[in-house]
Amino acid sequence: YVERTLAIIKPDAMNKAAEIEDIILRNGFTILQKRKVHLSPEQASDFYVEHYGKMFFPSLVAYMSSSPITVYVLAKDKAISAWRELIGPTNPFKARETHPGCLRDTYGKDQTRNAVHGSDSFISAQREIRFMFHDNVIEPIAAGQ
Ligand code: CMP
Repeated sequence: YVERTLAIIKPDAMNKAAEIEDIILRNGFTILQKRKVHLSPEQASDFYVEHYGKMFFPSLVAYMSSSPITVYVLAKDKAISAWRELIGPTNPFKARETHPGCLRDTYGKDQTRNAVHGSDSFISAQREIRFMFHDNVIEPIAAGQ
């Protein structure tokens, strides 16, 4: 079944956006929507609200609002897990060991500046797509999703 997921190229990887987009397409994802956005600290806090209260929350918000990012709606068969697989674990140092060649291995700098984001579930994907693309029309998706 074809799903949609939200992908983000984070500030530290914006200089590699063309390369990363190429990898996205070569891995069979369709780019349905794309937008460059500079989040305010308030918007970054809202986006990452599930991490509110965690030790790294303030630095995450500061980082994600520090300069523009590119956000994408990607579509593919099982896009959510496929994109998570391609980006690899949160921590680029761990990614290097367990998923060599994944995007966070290749482009990530540290646990916060880890190059890319991907929705972690269907519920998150819906929320995150709506968050970044206000006018997004979510079409009906096959039963069971
Ligand atoms: P992301 O997939 O965008 O989701 C939450 C983000 O918080 C994560 O990528 C990292 O950028 C950041 N993050 C998660 N865990 C940590 C951590 N332990 N220390 C610093 N930053 C983190």
